[in-house]
Amino acid sequence: MIPELNSPSVWIRDRARVQQIIQSMRCTGPSTLQVISDFDMTLTRFAYNGKRCPTCHNILDNSKLISEECKIKLADLLNTYYPIETDVTQPMEEKLPLMVEWWMKAHELLIEQKIHKDHLAIVVRESDARLRDGYKLFFDHLQDKGVPLLIFSAGIGDVLEEVIRQAGVFHPNVKVISNYMDFDETGTLRAFKGELIHVYNKREGALLNTEHFQELRTRPNVVLLGDSLGDLTMADGVHDMENILKIGFLNDKVEENKEPYLTAYDIVLEKDETLDVPNAILLYIT
Ligand code: C5P
Ligand code: MG
Repeated sequence: MIPELNSPSVWIRDRARVQQIIQSMRCTGPSTLQVISDFDMTLTRFAYNGKRCPTCHNILDNSKLISEECKIKLADLLNTYYPIETDVTQPMEEKLPLMVEWWMKAHELLIEQKIHKDHLAIVVRESDARLRDGYKLFFDHLQDKGVPLLIFSAGIGDVLEEVIRQAGVFHPNVKVISNYMDFDETGTLRAFKGELIHVYNKREGALLNTEHFQELRTRPNVVLLGDSLGDLTMADGVHDMENILKIGFLNDKVEENKEPYLTAYDIVLEKDETLDVPNAILLYIT
């Protein structure tokens, strides 16, 4: 039905179930669909030409807005906490406080650097951030079909918006839930707004955004895209859900993570740097 699903990088635990969900979504069409996607390493590439691509945080971390001394501290944080984030053997209750610690420490360092909001567009333009191949079809098709796209990110909202704005795909159907910067009257970063969103508390973030999900209550079909096991709770605020199709990008630690990803996600895409599979599914059902 969708040839892309037969590619060797596509792993599906229960093909019959996936087919049934897709058929059911196709039957009711675009007016009943909403798409919820993570940002970093899901809509953006994990690697390009063998080199890791930056997350929203890394776009700032590696930029000219950060002093050399601070860059070292931010890199130390990444080297300490990223292995914890992606370790599937460590219990969640141990990981949660450590994730909060990482985000808080990193945000404190960024605040110390007195980042000016007018410089964000420049550092995004100069960065190595790249949306996955096929991004234009993905964003444009959802906009054309009137399907709402929620981008739910533990990254930095201001940076994320700039990435999609510069790519020309920040269409009116896109809503972003993320960590937003708070600037003082001179335009200098002084804090982050609202409740912190980290990679494993997206459920709480979803439940705080009741208004958004209330508006979309006539759309009980959800296509969810993520790259972390934490992304699976992004749809926890959806009202009266009928079908959910969970598509997971398995970018890193493929051998250790394959089993847990196959259990949690309906479709697992192994080291696939494109949006070809989600696009093929979305074109089929809408
Ligand atoms: O958009 P998404 O929810 O994926 O953003 C979170 C990602 O940002 C995490 O996977 C984490 O590895 C990364 N991160 C980072 N630097 C930080 C905090 C998080 O690169 N200081
Ligand atoms: Mg991610």
